[in-house]
Amino acid sequence: MNKRALITGSSTGIGFEYAKYLSKEGWSLDLISQNKARSLESKNKLSYDKAQFHIFDLGMKESINSIVNNFETPDLIVANAGKAINGKIGDIMQDEREYFYYLMCGGVIDLIEGFIPKMINKGNGRIIIISSIGAKAPMPKSSLYSSIKAGIYAYGKSISTELKNKNISVTVSLPGYVRTQAHERVGLDHLIKKGTKLDVG
Ligand SMILES: NC(=O)c1ccc[n+]([C@@H]2O[C@H](COP(=O)([O-])OP(=O)(O)OC[C@H]3O[C@@H](n4cnc5c(N)ncnc54)[C@H](OP(=O)(O)O)[C@@H]3O)[C@@H](O)[C@H]2O)c1
Repeated sequence: MNKRALITGSSTGIGFEYAKYLSKEGWSLDLISQNKARSLESKNKLSYDKAQFHIFDLGMKESINSIVNNFETPDLIVANAGKAINGKIGDIMQDEREYFYYLMCGGVIDLIEGFIPKMINKGNGRIIIISSIGAKAPMPKSSLYSSIKAGIYAYGKSISTELKNKNISVTVSLPGYVRTQAHERVGLDHLIKKGTKLDVG
């Protein structure tokens, strides 16, 4: 078994649980996050010699280009990196809006589009996109987040159909509230205790 997975946003939360789960299954892992200290902490916690840890700001196009051009083609992509966005209409400036759109939608599309031709050449592939229930439910004061997650959900659903006869499966996950660092990182403290506890054991 020599399967390789690329996981974005692997240092904490949902991405880290994917890393834990796949390490137990013996996968080789390319694990991407942004903050060096948290990446190192996750490296120590995972303690797995088939994992490589990479630092990239995935809100930047250069990062995605570098990954697509230099990484080995994965058998599985878990496009998970993201941030909760707390802000009512008018609170979030245009450059921030563009950054978040790239981090959780445009960049995810660039990453997937970059690897799909290589997966097709290999004859198989699996893609998991972590969207959010916010793709379907109204999220007052998080309308930007909701629209970004709706965009990537629609993209994933469409390519899932398009790639069916290419032996590439695409799953879009729409989690509800999950207890991770996502909410405390942006000051949504009232949501920290809400939702499902996360631990694959
Ligand atoms: N928790 C929930 O209730 C919930 C619900 C629905 C959907 N989601 C989605 O689930 C995904 C994972 O979130 P989580 O809840 O597990 O949150 P989390 O614990 O805060 O984890 C977020 C991960 O994304 C990485 N990340 C954030 N910005 C990045 C950037 N610019 N470049 C590279 N990596 C970046 C973080 O890396 P660093 O440590 O380096 O910052 C971290 O590894 C997100 O897409 C989120 O929108 C979460």
